Amino acid sequence: MIERIEQLRAEGEGAVAQAATTAALEEVRVRHLGRRAELPNLLRGVADLPPEQRGGVGKAANQARQALEALIAGRTRELEAAELDVRLAADRVDVTLPGYPAQPAGRLHLLTATRREIEDVFLGLGFTILEGPEVELVHYNFDALNHAPNHPARDRTDTFYVRRPEAAGQSPVAGPDAPRSTPSDLVLRTHTSPMQIRAMEAHPPPLYVVVPGRVYRRDSDATHTPQFHQIEGLAVDKDVTLADLKGTLLAFARAIFGDEREVRLRPHFFPFTEPSVEVDVSCFNCTEGHLRDGSRCPLCKGTSWLEILGAGEVDPNVYAHVDDDRYDPEKVSGFAFGLGVERIAMLKHAIPDLRLFYDNDLRFLEQFG
Ligand code: PHE
Repeated sequence: MIERIEQLRAEGEGAVAQAATTAALEEVRVRHLGRRAELPNLLRGVADLPPEQRGGVGKAANQARQALEALIAGRTRELEAAELDVRLAADRVDVTLPGYPAQPAGRLHLLTATRREIEDVFLGLGFTILEGPEVELVHYNFDALNHAPNHPARDRTDTFYVRRPEAAGQSPVAGPDAPRSTPSDLVLRTHTSPMQIRAMEAHPPPLYVVVPGRVYRRDSDATHTPQFHQIEGLAVDKDVTLADLKGTLLAFARAIFGDEREVRLRPHFFPFTEPSVEVDVSCFNCTEGHLRDGSRCPLCKGTSWLEILGAGEVDPNVYAHVDDDRYDPEKVSGFAFGLGVERIAMLKHAIPDLRLFYDNDLRFLEQFG
């Protein structure tokens, strides 16, 4: 009888080795260990054997059954893993395939397209592109840009101040009795100009860079959103004059608004440029302020000029704040400008309300690009 048990065990092992799928393995299990299979029957009959055979036969049959069970369980796990791999490979979806039916590919947001268009113009003029932090030190946003300590732009009503993480939670009392917290040294940058200083500290002259990015001011109406986009320009080299600024901006204006454009500089004030100017481009919508039917041009309001940006010669005081002796106002000079991406896009496409850029209304967005 023990011999028969060994034979059954060997047959079972052979069958397991032959089974190539989990389904075939299950058949093997039923045939060799199921209710009607010989080995379990033998085990059930042990009690009817003469007492001197029970021990030996029972032990051998039990061992044979346990060995087969373990073998089948192990092999099942192996086959299941292999079958899963096959299924995963077969079910793999190529998410880069076009949808069926094909879906429209979408388009760039007008602000992204405008930013890239402007970047391309300056890349063509030999500038490189830099980016900088939106959470900025007061030092770079105001101090190093020659803002007087009482300059109104520093006011909390105009600028978002940011508390340092380690200072958060330090104000124990809220409300009118709260201690006036020490002024933060961090702001959401109010313009891209702090990158003038950072760019000079990171790169020696000659320097020709443009810096696109988000800026933040506490303002909200049809012509102001709390967050908007600027592009800063900075050129520092030997003998860079206001004439170089004008030529550069003329090339920019013609690339964006058309070959016939002219630019003019009007005196202005910025703390970090001297002299400072506002730059106008001749209106592309009218002739000398009038439309063909003789009515007043609504874009330039009959003035025939459109204000596009602020600029100027870098103030010598600014170089003094740059932590690099090579920026010595006796040796280098430069110009800087800052333009609003929204403003350029609004002028170019006659967009009446700044908030349209941020409403995400497809009827608006789909008109561009
Ligand atoms: N930073 C100024 C602003 O936001 C613009 C500017 C940039 C003016 C560079 C002069 C030079 O209004």
